[in-house]
Amino acid sequence: MLEDCKLIELQSLGDSRGMLNVIEYANEIHFPIKRVYFLTKVPSGSERGGHAHKILQQLIICPSGAFDITLDDGESKKKFTLSESHIGLKVTPGIWREMSNFSGDAVCLVIASELYDESDYIRDYEEFKAYLSKAQP
Ligand code: TYD
Repeated sequence: MLEDCKLIELQSLGDSRGMLNVIEYANEIHFPIKRVYFLTKVPSGSERGGHAHKILQQLIICPSGAFDITLDDGESKKKFTLSESHIGLKVTPGIWREMSNFSGDAVCLVIASELYDESDYIRDYEEFKAYLSKAQP
């Protein structure tokens, strides 16, 4: 559900030595963490994403730089700009996502509830719409 995809504020301890950002299972994640991966060196103008997941839940964070992420539940779309290291975006299953406008120094850190499984991906938008209409009788 798009309304369950929310920006959340991470615990952030800042002083003159810099920022220390904390992500805890019990406070920010609430799903078992099975995998963490991150994107770096995304060329400017590149678009990433362009898929949905059937089961996978994610918390997406931008520890450095900035990028945009548009979420789509088949009925409406919501665009977020991630540009602050202490803000994360929760993405629930059944949401199409597209990521663009990566700054040169952008890092996209993803905390995921499942191991990589290509069969969990829906990579075709028409297939995504058909999947949603089957899931909601
Ligand atoms: P993909 O999830 O499509 O990347 P993005 O959403 O950032 O555009 O993954 C890109 C490729 O990498 C695809 O061939 C699947 C592969 N991949 C793995 O092998 N392991 C992983 O953990 C992930 C996330 C992707």
